[in-house]
Amino acid sequence: MSLPIHPPILRRGLLVLAASMALASSALAQAPIIIKFSHVVAVDTPKGKAAEFFAKRAAELTKGRVKVEVYPNSQLYKDKEEMEALQLGSVQMLAPSLSKFAPLGVKEFEVFDLPFIFDDYNDLHKVTQGPVGQSLLKKLESRGITGLAYWDNGFKVMSANRPLKAVEDYKGLKMRIQSSKVLDAEMRALGALPQVLAFSETYQALQTGVVDGTENPPSNLYTQKMHEVQKHLSVTNHGYLGYAVVVNKKFWDGLPADIRTALSKAMVDSTKVANDVAFQDNKEALEKVKASGKTTIYTPSMAERFLLKKALVPVHKQMASRIGEEVLQAIYKETNFDPSKL
Ligand code: LMR
Repeated sequence: MSLPIHPPILRRGLLVLAASMALASSALAQAPIIIKFSHVVAVDTPKGKAAEFFAKRAAELTKGRVKVEVYPNSQLYKDKEEMEALQLGSVQMLAPSLSKFAPLGVKEFEVFDLPFIFDDYNDLHKVTQGPVGQSLLKKLESRGITGLAYWDNGFKVMSANRPLKAVEDYKGLKMRIQSSKVLDAEMRALGALPQVLAFSETYQALQTGVVDGTENPPSNLYTQKMHEVQKHLSVTNHGYLGYAVVVNKKFWDGLPADIRTALSKAMVDSTKVANDVAFQDNKEALEKVKASGKTTIYTPSMAERFLLKKALVPVHKQMASRIGEEVLQAIYKETNFDPSKL
């Protein structure tokens, strides 16, 4: 037999229930969506500054409904671990360098590592801001990753404790590289001995002599203080280092549509900032290295750079079957690169 409930008590109970449900749902509505954005470089780098800008812009455009937490300097994860963390959903966003995607099985990304494939940022942007770049980002989907944008860093310089003028000067040097088979082939083509190391371990490896030298855009070299442990730097601009900004696909697809739209807009704005900062910072970093007086900066003559190019362009053919002939030819077409015309 059920007990009769007195109507005023019932009404009060329902009111309390409704009020607490309203409270709970407004608390839910107010709790921001957290995006953990992990990266391996310093805060005052092009990527570091662009990530901070994205956090600010995302908060503005979503009116605080999204909070981007930026973790710089390999604070959370080193190179290899950050990819795993993204796939597992422990972080939601990364911007690894393009050289770091091949270990996921997307070897086509190593096309960006080919020496001398881009003459300048103009050439590069034809790819990163065009259909070839977009189709490369699409290849990440099968790995549970959505590519949102490309962010520039810059063209690389070589450094070591001996002058690097002629091709022969690289012979026998242990050179730190990122985890890319193309970069491995590049160093071997110069007679150097490539060694893959996480970015966070590079300064110490140079300091202790585990490796003799490395390649970097100036902004990375300077902000990691590598110039303090490298006596010579050669402005070879022989290759490019840039980033793909990526998110965990499941997380991204699960966001409310209006939030995704706002974040996409924030990404467009941040990409512009990233690219402007990269251009400026790399110029300034070289000047700062020079001003430090710790590293001698050498700019190869046209003839020396041509010889370096001649030694390195065969890497394209050597790596074509790994990268995929199709993507290689698509980039040659965009940039009018003809390896036979050397
Ligand atoms: C490196 O490992 O040298 C770079 O990928 C670091 C970075 O993210 O710029």
